[in-house]
Amino acid sequence: MNILEILKSKKIVSGNAIEEVLGISRAAVHKQIKTLKQIGYKIKSSSKGYSLIGNKNLFNEYEIESRLKNPLKICKTVKYYKQLPSTQTSVKKLAEKNFEEGFIIVAEKQTNSYGRIKRTWSSNAGGLWFSILLKPLIRPDEASKLTLILSIALKRTLKEYKIDSEIKWSNDVFVNDRKIAGILVEMSAEQDRINWIVAGIGININNKLPAKFVDISISLKEVLGREVDRAEFLAKFLAKFEEIYNNFCNTGFEMFVEEYNRDIAYKNEIVTIDDGYNNIVSGVNLGIDKDGRLMINTKVGLEKVISGTLRRK
Ligand code: BTN
Repeated sequence: MNILEILKSKKIVSGNAIEEVLGISRAAVHKQIKTLKQIGYKIKSSSKGYSLIGNKNLFNEYEIESRLKNPLKICKTVKYYKQLPSTQTSVKKLAEKNFEEGFIIVAEKQTNSYGRIKRTWSSNAGGLWFSILLKPLIRPDEASKLTLILSIALKRTLKEYKIDSEIKWSNDVFVNDRKIAGILVEMSAEQDRINWIVAGIGININNKLPAKFVDISISLKEVLGREVDRAEFLAKFLAKFEEIYNNFCNTGFEMFVEEYNRDIAYKNEIVTIDDGYNNIVSGVNLGIDKDGRLMINTKVGLEKVISGTLRRK
């Protein structure tokens, strides 16, 4: 339990009670109350104790931690920043310093965020922008499957909000034919071992979409017609991802193929995949095989694609 959970659980709570529950000194209680006030909570102090008033659901690391029901190996530490150039760049720096698996950085806004093939990614306030440091014991050639299992975790999380989504191979999640989330997986590896993986995830939650994206992107707020508690969404997502990640690392990818293909976007439609090196494969999208490769029925036979940008023809 953290101090915020204690304050949220009662109308008024004495300093002594907080000291006892958390096993900390009076000075430490004062310090934590001061920090909470600094990050935006309104806390009234009286002779009877402290009470939380006003908006109780801000978005910060306390809120995220307090919603995590169980300890997670993929989220041992979570840090929230009001603004960063990119959570991805920040976590990659930690990875290079040999930080352990499970470090997550979340930012309210990013000023230099990017997506696949270094495309600019728009990250206004109100969205959910975060990166996770992972160190799975898998072969480097298995790493691309992490994008696929992350999309499954996102899909399952959206389902908890009663939202049906589709996965556009390999890294986009779509709702009503518009992009709601994107995934970026970057890694450092040697020939036969992964040093680290940083998974960056951007989800349009309550953020206002830039005019140029309104036709092709969508936010959760727009789908549901209400604001969504981002700390809750993130906690739900992390719990789902932890389970999927453990299964994937222990048992492999095959168990996810059916689920991935069930709602794959543009299934049985004619698509093109551009690998970014002037190779374009065109044909009918048959979904992924057991190795996560996209199967395309082309005029000259079946082709299996490992990576690239998929477009509907
Ligand atoms: C894509 O659709 O190409 C992937 C987009 C990934 C964006 C996320 S937001 C959090 C993290 N920080 C970044 O700079 N990028 C990722």
